[in-house]
Amino acid sequence: MRLFLDTADVSEVREAVAWGVVDGVTTNPTLMARAGGDPEAILRELASLVAGPISAEVIATDADGMVEEGRRLAAIADNIVVKVPITPAGLEATHRLAREGIKVNVTLVFQPGQALLAARAGAAFVSPFVGRLDDIGEDGISLVADVVEIFRAQGITTQVLAASIRHPQHVIEAARVGADIATMPFKVLKQLVQHPLTDAGLERFLKDWQAARGRV
Ligand code: G3P
Repeated sequence: MRLFLDTADVSEVREAVAWGVVDGVTTNPTLMARAGGDPEAILRELASLVAGPISAEVIATDADGMVEEGRRLAAIADNIVVKVPITPAGLEATHRLAREGIKVNVTLVFQPGQALLAARAGAAFVSPFVGRLDDIGEDGISLVADVVEIFRAQGITTQVLAASIRHPQHVIEAARVGADIATMPFKVLKQLVQHPLTDAGLERFLKDWQAARGRV
């Protein structure tokens, strides 16, 4: 499973890229608004930091507007992927952009039928939202498992990008059910690498080493 960062914070991406574990970045209008600054400049910087896919979401809600905006976003860098919501207009925009060779990530997917339609329209990625389903008492990971199962059964090559990840267990479960990608906040990536016993063990190693060297 590839690991993406879900952020528009360039400093977070720069730090995580140095770890050698970041395969791409996803953004959305909320993350862009939080980052502030010029969205195009942020996307250009992200695209230069990470060779993999950088998802940039349209604001338009009509098909013509999405297509026009998508073309502009795709022109920013070769690795920009255009993100559109799973709506009828989003399906039409996906179909039109895909025919032009522009990769599309269909987002805000909350049930398998939406993923099936997005793939049929030509989406390169579909983003089932795990955390927001958990937030309302549903089982978000089961959606990812359903989409993976359906895509495999149908020989669909659209990639399943598990999104709305809230904690490390979501990442582990997404990997277990076969998601192609998990996109997560930097906070979750940091949680993935940390464990109190790792910290305690390292501290003990260093103390024992220093104690022995003191006796040399
Ligand atoms: O960026 C798409 C998705 O990962 C956002 O999820 O629920 O944390 O806003 P959420």
